[in-house]
Amino acid sequence: MKNEEFAYNKSGWNLHMMPVGYLMIEHRLIERMIKLMADELVLNIKNGKVNLSFIDAAIDFIKNYADKCHHGKEEDILFRDLTKKNMSAEHKKIMEELIQEHVIGRQTVVRLVSAKEEYASSKTKSTAEIEKNIKWLIEFYPKHIAKEDKQFFLPCMGYFDKEGQARMLEEFYAFDGETIQDKYKKIVKDLER
Ligand SMILES: [Fe+2]
Ligand SMILES: [Fe+2]
Repeated sequence: MKNEEFAYNKSGWNLHMMPVGYLMIEHRLIERMIKLMADELVLNIKNGKVNLSFIDAAIDFIKNYADKCHHGKEEDILFRDLTKKNMSAEHKKIMEELIQEHVIGRQTVVRLVSAKEEYASSKTKSTAEIEKNIKWLIEFYPKHIAKEDKQFFLPCMGYFDKEGQARMLEEFYAFDGETIQDKYKKIVKDLER
């Protein structure tokens, strides 16, 4: 069954789900990849071994799913619409922190990519840089996700009426297109085997 989690139905989208529900479902998939990265860190990287195909899959996931697809919807749709609302000082402050955290996350992925390339091209035999950046990411994501899930997402929905929420959810579906959710769900599932 296609995109069951996202509650698609035959007549179209299920517009009764809150848009932040969609983002929270994505958080659960990101957490599964983070768990795989944490396992890889303990089993291989800390022992000086690097499974390059796993690192490539992790980089692809973080870049294209966690950042482009997930942070993309947060920044380009949710945060964009929130800035048009009369947000409380507290919510504004959290949103600015979240945006800043996305920036630091991106910079860390760039560092991980160059550490991986140095290692793959045998410029270095050390796994220290790969270890450092993977470690940073597996510590970062759970904290960032918890801040959104527990302090930000639900109160923010209070700024939108039912219609506004439904419109946002439709925009999320359009942003994603038909294939990206299934693609990355499968990637994670296959890595978990
Ligand atoms: Fe975020
Ligand atoms: Fe998020």
